[in-house]
Amino acid sequence: MKPCLFLAIETSCDETSVAIFDEQLHVKANVIASQTKWHERFGGVVPEVAARAHMELLTPTIAEALSIANLSMKQIGAVAVHHGPGLAGALLVGLSSAKMIALGLGVPLIGVNHVHSHLYACRMSAGREIFPCVGMVVSGGHTILFDCESALQMKRLGGTIDDAAGEAFDKVANLLGLGFPGGPALEKEARLGNPKAYSYPRSFIHEERLDFSFSGLKTAVLYSIAPPGEKLNLVKIDTLPRANMAASFQEAVVDVLAVKCLQALRRTGRKRLAVGGGVIANSCLRDRLATECSRLGVELFVPQKDLCTDNAAMAALAVEYWKEQRFSNLSLDICSTVY
Ligand code: KG4
Ligand code: ZN
Repeated sequence: MKPCLFLAIETSCDETSVAIFDEQLHVKANVIASQTKWHERFGGVVPEVAARAHMELLTPTIAEALSIANLSMKQIGAVAVHHGPGLAGALLVGLSSAKMIALGLGVPLIGVNHVHSHLYACRMSAGREIFPCVGMVVSGGHTILFDCESALQMKRLGGTIDDAAGEAFDKVANLLGLGFPGGPALEKEARLGNPKAYSYPRSFIHEERLDFSFSGLKTAVLYSIAPPGEKLNLVKIDTLPRANMAASFQEAVVDVLAVKCLQALRRTGRKRLAVGGGVIANSCLRDRLATECSRLGVELFVPQKDLCTDNAAMAALAVEYWKEQRFSNLSLDICSTVY
């Protein structure tokens, strides 16, 4: 295999990230410019603001990545980009820049699916082969189970029919007045609470279908704050047993995610489980999956914490495409789905 240095760009949501890695998957830089301060006053990610922030942040982030790696642009041999799914305006900033760089350097362009990359983050952290496996991506935009024959062959087994797990974390954190970003804030609050205090619903947990639904759970938390008919804006949030609510909500999400992984493992007969996406940064979920997997003799792969949430190093999935000479051309467009 001839050596190659890859420049990868991630702009699907609210992190502007640029990574540099080689064909051996050695990461030389993985810079993440967070946009939290741009969005926190709105209590969530504003798509137009995200796109404009990417435009401002991308060029300096590329320069920083090259400087950390001690490389110049001329040494880059391929350009990888997450071209979806994600926010359209945000993706367009990364994709047009990636095309321009690839064209300017005369090197291959490789479009990579952001959701598949979240699973590849497990491969990056493991430092060894993780496929074939059952894969689950739990992020702010997605909750999907895959049967992964290889890094390039992922078959969808099921997914959420409404909210994603991370979205539910964010919305419940917002309801409880815990701030933005919601997932880590809710996890912190939950540490102080009793997970058995509230018995929130666990959709589809007794059904064999490998799907998820979190909107009923979110509504159940809302009704435990303000029962139907009562006005939410009249509730004094800081007088509520917020830690118990957060812990009980988290336990419900973790229960469902763990049970569905086990069902997927049973159905496929796989002996490895890989879980990627922002929500796998959650220690309660990591611990629960570790316990279940060791009980069943299944190998569990999760990314190191900084590779759970959005980053460009996970786009090293592009190396797998590159090995097969599967390149994109300049007509590559943003995509809204997981292919
Ligand atoms: O993968 P990611 O960075 O973005 C998407 O592709 O969507 O995931 C972000 C999501 C957010 O919803 C965030 O609240 C959630 O991951 N998240 C967490 C934790 N850290 C991030 N959820 C629960 N516990 C955490 N510690
Ligand atoms: Zn993501």
